[in-house]
Amino acid sequence: MTRHFLRDLDLSAAEQTLVLDRAAHMKQRPEAYAQAMRGKVLGMIFQKSSTRTRVSFEAGAIQMGGQAIFLSSRDIQIGRGEPITDTAKVLSRYLDILMIRTYKHEEVQGLASASRVPVINGLDDLLHPCQILADLQTIKENRGTLAGQTLVYVGDGNNMAHSMMLGGALAGVNVRIITPREYAPKDEIVREAQTAAKASGAKIEVCHDLGAVEGADVVYTDVWASMGQEEEQAKRVRDFSGFQVDGRLMKRAKPDAIFLHCLPAHRGEEVSAEVIDGPQSRVFDQAENRLHAQKALMTFLLENR
Ligand code: CP
Ligand code: NVA
Repeated sequence: MTRHFLRDLDLSAAEQTLVLDRAAHMKQRPEAYAQAMRGKVLGMIFQKSSTRTRVSFEAGAIQMGGQAIFLSSRDIQIGRGEPITDTAKVLSRYLDILMIRTYKHEEVQGLASASRVPVINGLDDLLHPCQILADLQTIKENRGTLAGQTLVYVGDGNNMAHSMMLGGALAGVNVRIITPREYAPKDEIVREAQTAAKASGAKIEVCHDLGAVEGADVVYTDVWASMGQEEEQAKRVRDFSGFQVDGRLMKRAKPDAIFLHCLPAHRGEEVSAEVIDGPQSRVFDQAENRLHAQKALMTFLLENR
């Protein structure tokens, strides 16, 4: 059966570890994988903007001897209403692996349901599972281990918060999500993550009090208005006031805590320049790890078709 990566829990805990270990090895010895995608073609469907996801997937495929085709929804027929399932049936006869970035999670599921080849979720409104793989790789590099680490996310209960709870639960990372009351993550995802966390022993919590930053090994934030929410920007800036990760908030975490952000960032909104450009920040290592983690993920899915 074709394996897809649409949700964080599409990998088992052991498979997530395997992908992360391979990503670390690929980072050290990229030449060992120079033929890992030889003759394979990746198709990348984008309905939203991207810098990191597009370039890391495309460069990753090329570095492993494969090719990548960028498919903007403005240019292909899904932009004119061709059903996603027809698109999947056609593209999977040309291509070996597909990635999609879109709005509704159901679109990603629809593409996978009709695809003969692995489909990867490159972000939707619900989840961003590729980002979490890179984040876990970065945490492991900096803290030496994942199990028992405490990751505190401050901000919107969005796709990043959702994937962090799910991916963190698998890896044994305690995930604490702090949001304004009306921007809490979806209950069903919180429950799913808490169920997954039973096996790893991780603690998954949601709260609305910034005091919960106390004891954090990792402090994480993301934009207050995600792609597709641009019209709410002004309201959200008002609603999230007080939730900026600044030097004062970082001081409430452990003294050696690191700061992560999936990027793109808005300095002066969700994070101060002092923090994101300061000594605790690892955001550019984190962005680099998108490349290694996704290379590992693509080889894993191609092997397990
Ligand atoms: N973090 C991330 O997914 O970045 P892009 O939107 O630039 O792909
Ligand atoms: N939550 C953000 C993440 C961007 C990588 C968005 O969906 O726009």
